[in-house]
Amino acid sequence: MLEISNLCAGYGHGPVVQGVSLQIARGETVALLGPNGAGKSTLLAALSGTLRERSGHAMMDGQDLIKMPTHAIVGHGVVQVPEGRRMFAPMSVEDNLRLGTVRLAGRNTATVQERFDYVYQLFPRLAERRHQLTGTLSGGEQQMVAIGRALMSLPRVLLLDEPFLGLAPMVVDEIRRTLNKLRDAGLTMVLVEQKLDIALPFTSRAYVMIKGRIALTEASVRLAARPDLGQLYFNLAKTHS
Ligand SMILES: Nc1ncnc2c1ncn2[C@@H]1O[C@H](COP(=O)(O)OP(=O)(O)O)[C@@H](O)[C@H]1O
Ligand SMILES: [Mg+2]
Repeated sequence: MLEISNLCAGYGHGPVVQGVSLQIARGETVALLGPNGAGKSTLLAALSGTLRERSGHAMMDGQDLIKMPTHAIVGHGVVQVPEGRRMFAPMSVEDNLRLGTVRLAGRNTATVQERFDYVYQLFPRLAERRHQLTGTLSGGEQQMVAIGRALMSLPRVLLLDEPFLGLAPMVVDEIRRTLNKLRDAGLTMVLVEQKLDIALPFTSRAYVMIKGRIALTEASVRLAARPDLGQLYFNLAKTHS
């Protein structure tokens, strides 16, 4: 469904992402793992077009996302839930969710209402708090808004950047259950995560990124069974320096 080849990206001081190639099949859930600073967020930013310094290819339906502006990429159904949630704190939950419907522009209000119903049914807590200002929500609830907003735009590929970062274990479980439902419903997802114990049970395949390159590609169950799992990043960094 999405075929990335030789992707490079950076911030004007030389490439951070250095020639990454990876494939994501329709309905697949893929983990993008790696230590802090490996370039995972940079890779997602290059894919979603928020980072302009990028080269290589990201083919979807015969078209190259790397050549498209951000809104066209969203229009293709590739939607990112950014790290750190990045929402508009002085706006209500409902208005934040509505921002996700820009891709639906031109569609009738029934379609938009359907998306609201869908998101509120996935996250009943958001339905209860729909008129509350997003900035006054807990971290977990804000993450639900961020995921909900992405879902409002009918994504075909959802890119999740460390959605559990800084959240309490109970709310992590709650959001994991919701993501499991999305996965079981067939949504294609890329989960960026540092923690292997969270990412591996959720995904079918995993890519491990070290210093801007893919250092390992493995089925998630096989990776989880590796005896050196606890030192995985350390060991990979040694062989890839
Ligand atoms: N906005 C930025 N400007 C300059 N350098 C950045 C910026 N964001 C990230 N970097 C650098 O790019 C590298 C990879 O960062 P990042 O993609 O955020 O890693 P990860 O998400 O894997 O933790 C790091 O060395 C980081 O310092
Ligand atoms: Mg990151």
